Amino acid sequence: MSVSWSNVFAARTSRMKASDIRELLKLTARPEIISLAGGLPAPELFPIDEYRRAFEWVLETNGSAALQYGPSEGYRPLRELLATRMTGMGIPAMADQVLITNGSQRGLDLVGKIFLNPGDAVCLENPSYMGAIQAFDSYQADYVIVPMDDDGMRAEELDLILTKRPAKFIYALPNFQNPSGRWMSTERRKILVDTAKKHGIPIIEDDPYGELRFEGEARPSLRSLWPEGVIYLGTFSKILAPGFRLGWMVIPETAYDEVVFGKQPADLHTSMATQMATYEVCRQDGFLDAHVERIREVYRERRDVMLRALEAHFPEGCTWTRAQGGLFVWAELPPSVDARDLLVDALEENVAFVPGQSFHADRSGHNTIRLNFSNVSSDRIEEGIARLGRAITRRLARVGTRPEVAVSP
Ligand SMILES: Cc1ncc(COP(=O)(O)O)c(C=O)c1O
Repeated sequence: MSVSWSNVFAARTSRMKASDIRELLKLTARPEIISLAGGLPAPELFPIDEYRRAFEWVLETNGSAALQYGPSEGYRPLRELLATRMTGMGIPAMADQVLITNGSQRGLDLVGKIFLNPGDAVCLENPSYMGAIQAFDSYQADYVIVPMDDDGMRAEELDLILTKRPAKFIYALPNFQNPSGRWMSTERRKILVDTAKKHGIPIIEDDPYGELRFEGEARPSLRSLWPEGVIYLGTFSKILAPGFRLGWMVIPETAYDEVVFGKQPADLHTSMATQMATYEVCRQDGFLDAHVERIREVYRERRDVMLRALEAHFPEGCTWTRAQGGLFVWAELPPSVDARDLLVDALEENVAFVPGQSFHADRSGHNTIRLNFSNVSSDRIEEGIARLGRAITRRLARVGTRPEVAVSP
């Protein structure tokens, strides 16, 4: 008898769907396409030599530990280094609160695993990070969404929203959010924390981009405002390289063991060799700070090129964020434009972007797009935005600037 696989899958798999735009975005591998779609760092900035030397050193001096199983919590010296570095940046952390993960994506999955029963609600920004929505979807989450504006989550609406529908936790991206590039104001951070306290629910602060700030002064981390109520997620993906899959969580003591027990059956621990080499790279005097500064400079310049190109080439009726850090500009098109249809036109012009709808847990945002500037050279950004501007203008000529309104007889 043959297996009927669809009868065997768990109910939760019904929410684990491949995104339909992924098929279209596969086309972006063609060399003639300028892809503003990915969320990738600039590979020319990867510290390849530093890692080569670090791996050599680790294998020569402590190869047996590097290739052996290790503790689930992570390599102790790296946990200590992270705790010191974060505390110095205004994100209070003790080594015992740090858990090393396989990227912060694993951290998001662990958060879902630890907190969510099917049907539990997660409170998040609209839009929010697609990978988090996918992680929470796989634990059959529902969503309570909070609108945003240029100052980030509209935290002043949160109290009412949570009163109507309580949530298990709030997932927030205060720094240069993926996808919108927005930076939550200090005032809203305080309101967010006060409201979470009032409702007695934790905050998950996901912060891959906090160090990639192009201008202005750092704003207080949510964790600094409420250390006992915030789980912080950090990652090396955007400050060193994503390929090693190395991230970390800072977890209040009372929740720490539970998360470790969630990690153990998933992967036992994170690669020791990778953690040890990364520790060696990070502990070189001044290297990491100088390296992050270099990344900031390159991305800031690319962001500037993108903003100038948008000004020059996007038709009237489009708006976009200024992205004071991170990897992304977020644009809103006239409501008559469906970004998925636009992607088909854009690919004909040999340029790609990510339609914004998948970042909305409520499936709104049909006329929004995410544009990446970190993984494209400046001249290609300029050309890519010019091509995209042409595609939008062509589409607008076809559909007009106003959405079709159904008229009842
Ligand atoms: C907001 C956000 N969280 C988490 C991740 C996952 O990062 P990592 O490479 O550390 O798994 C990303 C990746 O782009 C992201 O943008």
